[in-house]
Amino acid sequence: MNTPSPLLLPRTVALVGLMGAGKSAIGRRLALRLGLPFVDADDEIERAAGCSISEFFERFGEIEFRNGERRVIARLLEGAPHVLSTGGGAYIDPETRALMREKALTVWLRADLDVLFDRVKKRTHRPLLRQGDPREILGRLMEQRYPIYAEADLVVESTAQPADRTTEQVIDALRQHLSPESAGAVA
Ligand code: S3P
Repeated sequence: MNTPSPLLLPRTVALVGLMGAGKSAIGRRLALRLGLPFVDADDEIERAAGCSISEFFERFGEIEFRNGERRVIARLLEGAPHVLSTGGGAYIDPETRALMREKALTVWLRADLDVLFDRVKKRTHRPLLRQGDPREILGRLMEQRYPIYAEADLVVESTAQPADRTTEQVIDALRQHLSPESAGAVA
C-alpha cells in the first residue's frame, strides 16, 4: 500500500470568504492537520490597534480599518508559512488582494446564505451586520463580493456539515492543486 506523502506547503494558506464562512474554525483545524501555526488576521488587528474591531470601526471608520488590515496582513505574509484566516473584507480590498495573491495560496470558503446567516445570527460583534437587517446585508455582500472571492486559487464549499469534513475537503483541494497526480491521499 502506498503511504500518502505529507502535504508540503511552499507558502501561507490564506482563507477568504464572507462572515460566517468558517474561516477561523476551518483555519484552526487545517493548521493542526498541516502542522503549521494558525493566525487570525482580525485578532492581530485588534492586538495592533489595542481595541476591538467594533471599537475601531466606531472610532475611525471602515476606510481606516481597511488600511490597518492591509498593513497587518502585509506583515503576516512576510512571515514563515502558516494558515491565515482573514476578515471577510480583506480580499475585497484591491491592494490586500494583490498582496495575498502574490504571497499566499488563497482558498475561498464559499457558503450559501442560510449557512452564513445561521452562523452569524447569534453573535453581535460584527459592525457591518449591525447596520440593518443582517440577512439582507449578507445577501447584498454576497452579490458584491462573490465574483471577487472567485479569483481565489481554490474554492471549497463550506456547508452545514461538521468543520472536520470541510477541513478534509480543503486538504484534498490543496493536495490536488499542489500535486494533482497524488490527489485523494490524506495529509
Ligand atoms: C468584515 C468581516 C469581519 C471583520 C470586520 C469586517 C467584512 O471578519 O474583519 O468586521 O468586511 O466582511 P469575519 O469575516 O472574520 O467575521
